[in-house]
Amino acid sequence: MCGIVGYVGEKQAYDILIKGLKRLEYRGYDSSGIAISGDEKDLKFYKRKGKVAKLEEFIGDRSTKGTIGIGHTRWATHGPANDENAHPHASGDGNLVLIHNGIIENYASLKKELEKRGHKFLSDTDTEVLIHLIEEVKKQENVSLFEAVRLSLTEVVGAYAIVVMDKNNPDELVLAKKSSPLVIGIGDNDFYVGSDATPIIEYTKNVVYLEDEEIAIISKKNGLKIKKLNNQDISPTIQELQMKLDVLEKGGYPHFMLKEIFEQPKTILDCMRGRVNAQKGFVSLGGIEDYATKILNANRIIIIACGTSWHAGLVGEYLIEDLARINVEVEYASEFRYRNPIINENDIVLAISQSGETADTLAAIKLAKSKGATILGICNVVGSTISRETHAGAYTHAGPEIGVASTKAFTAQVTVLSLLALSLAQKKGTIEKSKLNRLLFELESIPEKVAEVLKSDDLCKEIAAIYKDVNNALYLGRGYSFPVALEGALKLKEISYIHAEGYPAAEMKHGPIALIDEEMPVFVVATKGPSYEKVVSNIQEVKARKGKVISIVTKGDEDVKKAADHVIEIPHTEEQFAPILATIPFQLLSYHMAVMRECNVDQPRNLAKSVTVE
Ligand code: M6R
Repeated sequence: MCGIVGYVGEKQAYDILIKGLKRLEYRGYDSSGIAISGDEKDLKFYKRKGKVAKLEEFIGDRSTKGTIGIGHTRWATHGPANDENAHPHASGDGNLVLIHNGIIENYASLKKELEKRGHKFLSDTDTEVLIHLIEEVKKQENVSLFEAVRLSLTEVVGAYAIVVMDKNNPDELVLAKKSSPLVIGIGDNDFYVGSDATPIIEYTKNVVYLEDEEIAIISKKNGLKIKKLNNQDISPTIQELQMKLDVLEKGGYPHFMLKEIFEQPKTILDCMRGRVNAQKGFVSLGGIEDYATKILNANRIIIIACGTSWHAGLVGEYLIEDLARINVEVEYASEFRYRNPIINENDIVLAISQSGETADTLAAIKLAKSKGATILGICNVVGSTISRETHAGAYTHAGPEIGVASTKAFTAQVTVLSLLALSLAQKKGTIEKSKLNRLLFELESIPEKVAEVLKSDDLCKEIAAIYKDVNNALYLGRGYSFPVALEGALKLKEISYIHAEGYPAAEMKHGPIALIDEEMPVFVVATKGPSYEKVVSNIQEVKARKGKVISIVTKGDEDVKKAADHVIEIPHTEEQFAPILATIPFQLLSYHMAVMRECNVDQPRNLAKSVTVE
């Protein structure tokens, strides 16, 4: 969603802002803009539809002098992507400028009120209403910018992370947040602002995460001050970032997505580090250990997530029910929240989120918390809002995922869920020692097996070249491989814009089979496991209708090879861990098809990495 950067200090702000906006490009956006001021109090204010490069091109030789500034990448909610709707937005007198991530839900009524008082609006956005409201309150109440922002926000319904700048006071920025993330970087003599740490990490590791309904002022002269919207003083908690700058670079790969796919042997290993030791029969998720008894005695575990994280949640359901025999439900966070769910203090809610900022997941957590449930989290981004909102949790340790299409985060999430299921099963005694040992040894070998699967990259590229121009694709899997089929379809559609559907293989005959003809590629997970023979029959059914079959099979498989048009082999593994291996060829196939179709794989159209609006 929208990206925010800000700077106040002694350095020239322009380069910091532009670099910051480029670091935020991965979040997905349609326009960008900056505002810069300095001691001369002349506000420079540029915005453009399109990529940051377009903005830079537009700015060209125009003046960018100034040591205080704000920058924004917009993901359109109210009004189309154009120059007028891009941020920053200015007050009527042009003295105040504001950038915003979120949605002001009552903007229409506020706008009507302001129009009655003579305010004129230049854009369709909810954001412009907010800066006019701040201007009005500042004038009517004759208060400082900080106070005007504070008072205005008490009238606002919705979500926001905002930064406001006053051209007549080029010493300070005012920031506030509710339900959208905002981070302040503390430098030696300066301050940095970001919607996440990526635009800040280059300059400082010391950060303060603003909490909901907090408002901050950062000033060259007076440092950092934070208050609650109700005027209560807050003492800032400074945290140290663990992230390293080099992980934000492509490291020689043409796209972040490919880099992240190839990082998986390492990220899965990092995810397991210290949590499993097969030799000693040890498996544990430190962060969740204190809640183990509560989980074992719970009515059920409700997994809430969106998109790829929801697919990981489905694998989690299979794992936990299969191994630990605990009842699990998997819910789309957005649906869970609005269907008046029955939850109580005997329920465990497990939220899964790569970014830790997904608004629907966050809202579902808050609802479950209000009903007394215990909330656990599996997040990738350290210090993210969801990781702070949960009672306990486990990080996936996959490192920053920049490509909008989730890859390494998915396999790390499934790894954490495997560890959780095994550790619960061990504690509950629902798994025989010999089986536990076998699974633990197998889990430890997964990074190596992932490295082997990655060797199929050239083959995936060849297959991609054959099918890159199709309009539709079907993905089938059964048991543990059903979520893999869903994830494969999501990967293809989101980056190549080819329509794709994932189905449980046996459901094909209940409808989707009608779609099969010689034009239709069907991607099937047919690895060795309890439903192997049944899936082979499904492949025969597709072939009988002249569909094209691309199948993921266990190394050495002969039966599917005879029937399918193409096979991609993966090493043998226990069925519980097959999703980790089987998903990788689907990631590679989608990647190559998208590249061949000249799609922007890292920033697909209309998508955002961190979905911070509901
Ligand atoms: O950050 P989250 O895991 O909460 O994000 C959830 C979805 O928005 C995300 O998985 C999305 O579906 C990805 N683009 C999938 O590749």
